[in-house]
Amino acid sequence: MANAELFAPIDMGPIHLANRIVMAPLTRSRAGKGDVPQAMHVTYYRQRASAGLIISEATQISPEGKGYAWTPGIHSAEQVEGWKHVTDAVHEAGGKMVLQLWHVGRISHPDLQPGGALPVAPSAVKPEMKAFTEAGFKDISTPRALEASELPRIVEDFRNAATNAKTAGFDGVEIHSANGYLLHQFLADKTNRRDDDYGGSIENRMRFPLEVVDAVVGVWGAERVGIRISPVSPANDIADSDPGSLFTAYTKALSKRGLAYLHVIEGATRGERDPAVFKPWTLKEDFSGLYMGNNNYTRALAIERVADGLADLVCFGRPFISNPDLVERLKLNAPLAKWDEATFYGGNEIGYTDYPPLTDEEVARYAAAA
Ligand SMILES: Cc1cc2nc3c(=O)[nH]c(=O)nc-3n(C[C@H](O)[C@H](O)[C@H](O)COP(=O)(O)O)c2cc1C
Repeated sequence: MANAELFAPIDMGPIHLANRIVMAPLTRSRAGKGDVPQAMHVTYYRQRASAGLIISEATQISPEGKGYAWTPGIHSAEQVEGWKHVTDAVHEAGGKMVLQLWHVGRISHPDLQPGGALPVAPSAVKPEMKAFTEAGFKDISTPRALEASELPRIVEDFRNAATNAKTAGFDGVEIHSANGYLLHQFLADKTNRRDDDYGGSIENRMRFPLEVVDAVVGVWGAERVGIRISPVSPANDIADSDPGSLFTAYTKALSKRGLAYLHVIEGATRGERDPAVFKPWTLKEDFSGLYMGNNNYTRALAIERVADGLADLVCFGRPFISNPDLVERLKLNAPLAKWDEATFYGGNEIGYTDYPPLTDEEVARYAAAA
């Protein structure tokens, strides 16, 4: 079968993946009181366990790391317990799952912060963005610049969250260093205007993200830690004057640490895949672990990229929202169900756990035609 590779198993260090199709981290804003995953989360993730790997929705490492209403955390005992039900269900169904560790930095709002505080960031640079609060979308104000003396506290929060993810039964973790959130805000020169050891040169701008990586690796071992980057995406009003140099240096530093995988959003998140400035997939050459490509992949492109050695793993986001059995549909070349954007964020089981898999009759029909 010409397209066997995408559907073939692969070992990611000690983690055996049944295929190379990954479910993307997808914020769905349905956590319960105390930012705890609920019974419907268990159902939702179990339904999608035929993915080679599931990456959880972005999960705040601390109350300060929160930037959207009803997102889950991994800093309280109740949250750990909630996630334990999810990982048990995914494992029972034969799947593997990592948790995405998230600190939003400036992409937040006092309504979502402890004590109504200002969100924090490397520098006091206001994003041209709105925040998703329980009372609807609100303008984001200028964040408070972090003191260097506060950074060890945030590194500790990442370490604590990584430890909690272990207790909650995940197979590993993904560090969220993409889409204009805190780690990306330190990397990029549009948002990092610091003149201390954490700003200025590329080496300095990488310092805090790499301190976080080292802390998380200290908990899990590098072979169970992946990282997500979006080198050329403008998501959340982020930009860098030289993404090629920045992300090549970052990739090399991550490679030296032996991380399990590099997860790259190729192009503008949910948008154009092929930017003029710099081709993010060329970073694969500088990374020793597995390379995971994401963004607007189709079945044909996924098969092609894996077959050509341009990606080891392919990560699908929106298609997994509306196709719980995406792996089977891709195998059979069956049609994909369209997602409904109106139910992406917030709400209940509608648009969450009610997308049906193919029926047995449909499976038989598409198998006969394949
Ligand atoms: C509803 C929704 C929620 C998302 N939440 C996250 C998230 O929590 N963490 C993250 O890194 N990316 C998030 N993304 C981006 C996706 O992971 C992915 O990069 C994007 O959808 C492009 O992939 P696709 O074309 O296969 O959908 C989200 C995207 C969507 C549509």
